[in-house]
Amino acid sequence: MKLVLGVIFVAIFGYELTQYYCSNSRGEPLSNYTFPDDFKFGVATASYQVEGAWNLNGKGENVWDRYTHTHPEKIVDGSTGDIACDSYHKYKEDVALCKELGVDFYRFSISWSRLLPTGFISKVNRDGSDYYSKLIDELLSKGIEPMVTMFHWDLPQPLQDLGGWANPKLQDYFYDYARLLLQLYGDRVKYWITFNEPKNVCRFAYGGPLLAPAVDSKAVGIYECAHTILKSHGQVYKMYDEEFRRSPEGKMGISLDMMFWMVPATDSELDKEAAERSLQFNFGWFANPIFGSGDYPEVMKKFVGRRSSFEGFKQSRLPTFSKEELDEIKGSADFLGLNMYSAIEASHVEFENSTDEISMDVDIQASYKFQPEWETAASWWLKVVPWAFKDTLTWVKRTYENPTIIITENGISDKGGNEDYNRVKFYELYLNAMLEAMNEEDVNVIGYTAWSLIDNFEWSDGYTNRFGLYSVDFESPERTRSPKLSAKSYKEIIARRRLPEETVQIPITQRLSARLSLDEVVPSSSTALTHSIQLTLILILTALLHSIH
Ligand code: BGC
Repeated sequence: MKLVLGVIFVAIFGYELTQYYCSNSRGEPLSNYTFPDDFKFGVATASYQVEGAWNLNGKGENVWDRYTHTHPEKIVDGSTGDIACDSYHKYKEDVALCKELGVDFYRFSISWSRLLPTGFISKVNRDGSDYYSKLIDELLSKGIEPMVTMFHWDLPQPLQDLGGWANPKLQDYFYDYARLLLQLYGDRVKYWITFNEPKNVCRFAYGGPLLAPAVDSKAVGIYECAHTILKSHGQVYKMYDEEFRRSPEGKMGISLDMMFWMVPATDSELDKEAAERSLQFNFGWFANPIFGSGDYPEVMKKFVGRRSSFEGFKQSRLPTFSKEELDEIKGSADFLGLNMYSAIEASHVEFENSTDEISMDVDIQASYKFQPEWETAASWWLKVVPWAFKDTLTWVKRTYENPTIIITENGISDKGGNEDYNRVKFYELYLNAMLEAMNEEDVNVIGYTAWSLIDNFEWSDGYTNRFGLYSVDFESPERTRSPKLSAKSYKEIIARRRLPEETVQIPITQRLSARLSLDEVVPSSSTALTHSIQLTLILILTALLHSIH
């Protein structure tokens, strides 16, 4: 009898209670490196993902408005960003959260259609220009630097109707829009980012169905899109540099994504080359013209050129820059914004001897898969591989001659809830990897941005996956924000300018977890209730065991 009760006891409570009551909740040691005094911390959001007010006060329609309204089936939960976090009305609350965290800057993006409803400079929406002016003033009044992204994916629909970024004319319209932004806010904004993740825009909005407007042109439009964006970036940087840079403190950069750090699948030369080639096709595509030799990577020219001629094209599908354009683009950034997320394994694929499919994927001649042991976030593509961050930073440093880097996004998704131990752990491990790169490889990282300040509209995942440090109650008209554990731990890291000695030790699947040594952490009432029921049962079982004795 005693044995049976003992087994039941251990089976039911042993694991979780050992975790909860006996462990100190911290496991893997973290390095002792500290953040330099002038290191800047921030948080980020993007207009379509948080603002809502999609058709209020003169705002025009953008590609995401059109896409979510006409193709709800393309969004996992059929949702839209019509209201999203309602940051249009609640921006002061968002700024208050930034203040609470103690961040140095807030990275947000401007909705082109809120400012220019038709996309063109001829009609400025006064309400839109006031909105961003108030947001910037609110931030500055709280001692927080605005970091402004000019384009975070929400292109005005009238410009898409002309072909969007695949149309070279967009360069002129972006120039007009950027000029207006610099005129309106250039006196108050020191950090500018022209484009967010142009690779994802071109690959997934012009080369497939993941992002709006989901144009299916994976062999041609995809490269034309990048070409227009690179020229637009170069031209706007030149304008900024020549006319609008107010002080040496004024900076303009671009945010490029390392959605996947590429790991060779085997030690073979072919797989190593496939991994490097994949980095060049995904990252070097934009980084090499701006931060590298000043043109598309040689390997891209070679591989796209060879396939294009095999397919019968007179010219490579990869466009070419004029000498003047190359000069304008090369060196056109004061910092490299790096968005870091995941990793994947790359293997070599032989030259395809058929023209059945023509696409960038075929051009690259690589195939991909995830290592099964990598932990997965709620987003299928997001694997938790902290060392990939260190490898990425080291590679970027070596490949682009040690650029100044600001991490403009890094974060993890889950299914929601404020006890987000996985996010706490993720930030600790990724920040640790970044500190190692800075201290052991001398990578010049001057700032870090957590994605995201608040849960928001996660593109084709709708509201099913959450990235926020603060949760948002999307059921409530108030869109109430509340802090998650990760907000508290990020705040603590910023204040102490160092990581805890050990990372929180919570497996990704475990819900009931150890106490964190965070000052204000209070278990939610449901967790507390579960634990008190468990304790009561323990007492009863213990008494039973005693009586048998
Ligand atoms: C984008 C964000 C997005 C995040 C998570 C980044 O690629 O810039 O807008 O929410 O990844 O998917």
